[in-house]
Formats: sequence, structure tokens, C-alpha cells
Amino acid sequence: MAFRNDFLWGGATAANQCEGAYDVDGRGLANVDVAPHGPERYAVVSGQRKMLDFEDGYYYPAQTGIDFYHHYKEDIALFAEMGFKTFRMSLAWTRIFPNGDETEPNEAGLAFYEDVFRECQAHGIEPLVTITHFDCPIHLIKEYGGWRNRKLIDFYKNLATTIFTRYKGLVKYWLTFNEINMILHLPFMGAGLVFEEGENKEAVEYLAAHNELVASAWATKIAHEIDPEVKIGCMLAAGSYYPYSCRPGDVRQAQLDNQDNYFFVDVQSRGYYPAYAVKKLERLGIDVGMTDEDREILAANTVDFISFSYYSTRCSAGADNPDVERTQGNAFAGAKNPYLQESQWGWAIDPLGFRITLNDLYDRYQKPLFVVENGLGAKDVVEEDGSINDDYRIDYLRQHIAAMRDAVTEDGVDLLGYTTWGPIDLVSAGTGEMSKRYGFIYVDRDDAGNGTLKRSKKKSFDWYKKVIATNGEDLALGR
Ligand code: BG6
Repeated sequence: MAFRNDFLWGGATAANQCEGAYDVDGRGLANVDVAPHGPERYAVVSGQRKMLDFEDGYYYPAQTGIDFYHHYKEDIALFAEMGFKTFRMSLAWTRIFPNGDETEPNEAGLAFYEDVFRECQAHGIEPLVTITHFDCPIHLIKEYGGWRNRKLIDFYKNLATTIFTRYKGLVKYWLTFNEINMILHLPFMGAGLVFEEGENKEAVEYLAAHNELVASAWATKIAHEIDPEVKIGCMLAAGSYYPYSCRPGDVRQAQLDNQDNYFFVDVQSRGYYPAYAVKKLERLGIDVGMTDEDREILAANTVDFISFSYYSTRCSAGADNPDVERTQGNAFAGAKNPYLQESQWGWAIDPLGFRITLNDLYDRYQKPLFVVENGLGAKDVVEEDGSINDDYRIDYLRQHIAAMRDAVTEDGVDLLGYTTWGPIDLVSAGTGEMSKRYGFIYVDRDDAGNGTLKRSKKKSFDWYKKVIATNGEDLALGR
């Protein structure tokens, strides 16, 4: 048997990409709500274009998502039919604290998530909950400047205390911040940051990163105090950087790029700033405002496990190799790897890189790992008879699961589980499109928000069901 008997197979979503119902039951407005579909989305999510409210002439896909808010029973039943052992989802902070800085929570928001968790429980599905997946209340951005402000640590602590108390016994696995390193790439999404003209962007990003790291450690402390049974994980947008060539300049650049990512998990897993980060911040003249209390909290409250998303590896070229072709990736631009095929959105496809990344993370941290995102965003075609033959998705997942199995059986990586990204089609975080689909379950909705929202099974649905039923032994296409 390759995977442990209690291996947590499942799928992963985020509140803002599927819930919709953005103004229902007292929910407040969040950064993710005002990220439009279309050419200006990148400028908004990276904090270059200030859009803190809905503006005329734009379509905002998070307002409706796939309306998981009203379909969650149907959706969870479909997950259960596939045999999910776990379902990763996130909380919308603004359902629970509409402005973020209230002292008392919004009961309707708390009740909604309790209902979702109970529904999971009724199907024997273990919820895996991300406290914040790219969401930050708009009020905290307008009033406090987002995560650049230390006050957000206190608001987050209040959120953490509220949810760990309320959901004690219902949720065992928590992640503090989705893809925390995304602060450096999509800072409006990652930390509610909008930059002023002439501002030192990097300094603000590291300040926000510090505040999130401290908040994460506080949440770990609070969780363990309220319920010693819970397990807290960090969450990294992973995918190791390869040197473009064996030129020392390329190898050094890959090392630096990897350190930029590892920095976050180094702090969350080891409890202190690594030497390379201390030196980098010194060199850049950045003061993150570390207090003695921060230092103690970070040191005493490291995470229980390391979770991460994996879509592809990346490639680094040094300054002495400037003519290298660049490519897209999950918000990380890099050198184009000439040995890899790419998805329709230009993301490199690298199953062996998954095994390499699993090894890199396990070697570095020696803590259990949890793959909480992996998958292929692709356009699907609905045939006349309603069928959707997504063999390309099956192929991508099959190769990645096989690589993951090798990492476990051949390399000894300790792995808790695997959740594919978007088991049901949802709004793309990067582009705001619906047509960039990841699901085993198709949702009838297009990029402009038209469609019935009807759910239907793709070919990959039965395939993944079989993978789970055989605990990852049978990956063949089958029928
Ligand atoms: C991860 C995020 O970066 O990648 C998800 O945690 C996101 O929120 C996923 O949806 C896939 O990216 P995209 O841009 O294809 O939606």
C-alpha cells in the first residue's frame, strides 16, 4: 500500500471563488469582491490600480461565484459520491466580521459555516479550512491600509479565537493564510495592499508579511490552547525553481528565488527569521518592526504540518543570462523551461517536478506535508449529449499522483493528503474567468456570468472516484 490508510483524498476551494452571495446575511465587502474580470484584473490584484469598490463598466465574478452559498448541500453530496475524505474550503472573513474590526461576530456568517461543516460531517468528510484565502475586509484596507498595519494582527486574533471556539470538535485541520508567499506577487490579494505613488513596495510587502507571520503564529497558539487536538498548517505556493542551466549565475539565481519562497515557511516552521532573510532585509534597509513579543510568539508556535499548492516548477536565469525567454506561471514569471509542455494558460506541466518539490520541502522541514492544491486549468467542451470528456485533466492528474506516490514510496516523504484544486469548476483567481476550469464537476456558467449554474459530472468524476476507492493504487483511465 503506497499511501497511508487514513490518507486524506479530496478537493480544495476558496470562499471568494465559489460562494457568491457577497451581500447576503450581513456579509461585508472584501478585496476579492472588487477584483474585476478582464484586462484590469492583474493591476487590481497586484495593488497597482486602486479599486476599493464596484465601478461601472466592470463585471465582478466573485459576487455570484458558482453560488456555493446556496448549493453547498448538492455540492458536498457530489464530493461524497466521489468518496472525498476531506474538503478544503475557506472562510470569508467578512461573513464573520463584516468590517473586520468589530468585537462581536455576525451570527449568520458563523451559522453558515457551521451548517457546511455539519453537512461534511454527515457525509464522513473532514473539513480542511483555510482561515483567509486571499480575502481581507475592504474596511480594514480603507481604514488601516491592510496588512501593513500591525493592528490587523489583533483583528485576526479575534477572528481566530471566535472560529476555534465555535468550531471546536467540527474542524481538525486549519491553514492560517493561503499561499502566504503570494504577498510578494499579488499583494492586494495576499495582504490587502494598495501602493501609493513612490512608495517602497518591497518594504511594505515585507512589513505585511511580518504581520501575517506573527498573526499566523498567534492563531497557532490560540488554536492549540482552545483545542489541543487541532493541527495547524502553513500554506505555500510551491514549485521549486530550477536553474536555467548549470551556469553558476543561473544556479545562484535559483537559490535566491527559492529562498524568497522558503522565507515564509522557514519562519512558520522553524520559528525565526533565517539568516539569509535577516541579511536581505538589512541590505534593503527594511525594518519589519519585530518586537520581543513577536520573536517569542514566532519561536513558540510553529506549525504542525506544511501544506502547499503545486502547479508547476519554475526556472531561474541569472543576470548574466538576460536573453532567456520568459513565461507565465501561477503569478510567478520566470524563464521558460524548454523541456516542458505548457497548459493553455502557459503554465509548465512537470509531474517529476512535483516529486522534486515534495522532496525539497520534506528534506527542509521534516514535518508532515499536505498537498492542498494541484490541477489543470483547461477549457472544457460540452458535447451534444451533455458529456464532457476531459481526458487531458485525467492525464495531468494521473501523472502527478503517480509522481506523488513515488515521493511517498520511493523517497519516504510523509504525506497527510492530497486535495485537487477546484473539484467543482469555480472562478479563476488569476484571471477571473470561469472558462479556466479545474473541476470533476462542470458548472454551467460563462466568463460573463451567464448560465444556469447546473452541475454535471465530467469524465474525470468517475476516474477520481476510482483513484480514491483504491487509495491511489489504480490510476488507469478505465472505461
Ligand atoms: C492558487 C490559489 O494560486 O492557484 C487559488 O490558491 C487559485 O486560489 C489557483 O485559483 C489556480 O489559479 P487560477 O489563477 O488558475 O485560478
